[in-house]
Amino acid sequence: MPVKQEQNIDAELRERLRSARGVFVLTGAGVSAESGVPTFRGGGNTAVWKGLPFDVISSAGMVARDLPAVWEWFDYRRGVLRHCQPNPAHAALARWQDRFERFTLATQNIDGLHAAAGSRGVLELHGNVWRARCVACGGREDIREMNGGRPPACRACGEWMRPDVVLFGEMLPVDVWEEAAGRACACDVCLVVGTSAIVYPAAGLPVAARRAGAYLVEVNPEPTPLSEICDATIRRRAGEALPRLAIAAVLMGFNRNLLVQMQQATPATLGLAGTLAVLLCYGGHLRVVGESSAARLRMGAVGSLFGLASTPQPGTCAGSILWA
Ligand code: OAD
Repeated sequence: MPVKQEQNIDAELRERLRSARGVFVLTGAGVSAESGVPTFRGGGNTAVWKGLPFDVISSAGMVARDLPAVWEWFDYRRGVLRHCQPNPAHAALARWQDRFERFTLATQNIDGLHAAAGSRGVLELHGNVWRARCVACGGREDIREMNGGRPPACRACGEWMRPDVVLFGEMLPVDVWEEAAGRACACDVCLVVGTSAIVYPAAGLPVAARRAGAYLVEVNPEPTPLSEICDATIRRRAGEALPRLAIAAVLMGFNRNLLVQMQQATPATLGLAGTLAVLLCYGGHLRVVGESSAARLRMGAVGSLFGLASTPQPGTCAGSILWA
């Protein structure tokens, strides 16, 4: 099936989102790019640190060989992040968590910006740069407020602490991974945002979701190896694309409630709804949702009253008023 490459959000994607009960989102470095966080690939400037490629300095072997150098690298990264704020893409995803029956946000990012934007229960596949972990007992510590950002030793056992992030050559935290894999396979729509989709196992999550029947959507200005199995790709920056998708989702929630209320509405309420519709449509084309013929007739009457081109059809999506 040919992949749909969109600049805009097409009718099928809107409909998929409207009817989705489970949404799974996987984000990568690109979602934080507009916050000023450098990406790893595709033009980022963190590819080399003091002559060492990032997959060498960020490796399990380096922790064993030279833990202070690893800390120095992560001190630098925390220094960059300290000045970064969540961007509209993070904010849009935070709003989504309450719009769907089941919503999961999994990220490869260690910057903590999703949580800073208000997202709850983020599955941090690669850990968090603002935490340290004991190399011996695994005890964790929040280091955000710590002077210099490094705990001297584990409070519980006195051993060395290391950044609580997944490094090359290390396993992902099993509980987080299992949770993410389970939810990816149970979603209706899977959205992949700002990742080059080449680092496994995280990159396997959208593939698994697609195999399990999810509608797969990529938001990335550049194509990736995942693009060819996507149902739709939005070739825009996350900070532009996600707020637009969020607006679509808001309208859909609004419309669903509207449908229920319309069927029990009084003429006064319908008059108010019609006025709102005129304001929203701004001379556009109104299509209405109606399950029963009585509701369609009532909306038809409202539409005619306000001089709108209204041909009520059951099951059409009123969200299209702003997006048609
Ligand atoms: P990459 O740096 O590999 O890829 C960033 C992706 O974001 C690229 O595909 C860009 O085209 C895209 N991009 C750039 N700006 C964007 C924007 N404004 N909106 C949307 N997309 C944009 O980052 P990841 O795929 O996250 O792992 O990298 C995966 C893992 O590789 C990282 O978690 C890290 C790294 O090694 C570990 O450190 C374990």
